[in-house]
Amino acid sequence: MISGSPKNEAEVVEAAPAKINLALHVTGQRADGYHLLDSIVTFAEDACDRLTFTLAEQDGFSLSGRFGALLSSDAAGQDGNLVLKARDTLRSALEEQGQSAAPVAIMLQKNLPIASGIGGGSADAAATLRGLMRVWNATLPAEALSTIALRLGADVPMCLAGRPLRARGIGEDIETLPAMPALSMVLANPLKGVSTPEIFRRQTQKDNPPVGTPPDGSDIGEWLAFLKTARNDLEPPARAILPDIDFISQMLVESGALFVRMSGSGATCFGLYGDHAAAETAAAKLSRERPDWYFQETKTTV
Ligand code: C5P
Repeated sequence: MISGSPKNEAEVVEAAPAKINLALHVTGQRADGYHLLDSIVTFAEDACDRLTFTLAEQDGFSLSGRFGALLSSDAAGQDGNLVLKARDTLRSALEEQGQSAAPVAIMLQKNLPIASGIGGGSADAAATLRGLMRVWNATLPAEALSTIALRLGADVPMCLAGRPLRARGIGEDIETLPAMPALSMVLANPLKGVSTPEIFRRQTQKDNPPVGTPPDGSDIGEWLAFLKTARNDLEPPARAILPDIDFISQMLVESGALFVRMSGSGATCFGLYGDHAAAETAAAKLSRERPDWYFQETKTTV
């Protein structure tokens, strides 16, 4: 059972951290077209959207942050804002159970690039579910919340979990990992959106083997060796569509990254560094080289 805040908070702030697919194998396809995955996922402590929920006279929604102007403030349609879809879906589920879901003003500070393979929209939806459960002081069985999350998008359940995990099925079959080191990384994106359905469509090899067994400890050397045995199967089709991905990966390598891979359906790539100072130095250098692109150093969650 997931319960909201016992403190009756009138204002709640939730971080929506970027999701990083350290490995992503496409292992099959369901009859409805969705792909079966086997993915090792972690989250970025220092690359987050930020959401504020305040009880109000009436519902409201405002956008700020570097990428706020690029988002819709509408709940409806294919491009409807996932924050508002999450609010509406959770409210209906709670009201069906006789729980109240009062009007709420939501502010979304959009710091993560849009359509960039790091689950920004999914992270926002998950943070909305977490935040509204608190501000509404609501109670739902964990499975009911997971079902709502999955209805909002295949990556939303993993963003709701928010800690290192292995995701299978279409992303909803989640096994949290006992340990993972805090990885020092730089996220890099050329700020050209990539269409997830298109990348999946172009990924023609549908039955790749699963990823191997991840280390059960937090030894960085073991994790690097493990990651080198895995892939992101969406990387070849994404690179074919957007040559900037080759370029940005090369920039990460030249900045001293020990390991570089694309996350999700791209175009964000991550570079792993020996320590946080090295990641910071690299991000500063890369930002000077391409001030129009997105570079963010971060530690990953443990
Ligand atoms: O679930 P979500 O709306 O985030 O997925 C966006 C699109 O990505 C889906 O419509 C589908 O085309 C593709 N997808 C997929 N297999 C997955 C996840 C997403 O084919 N496991």
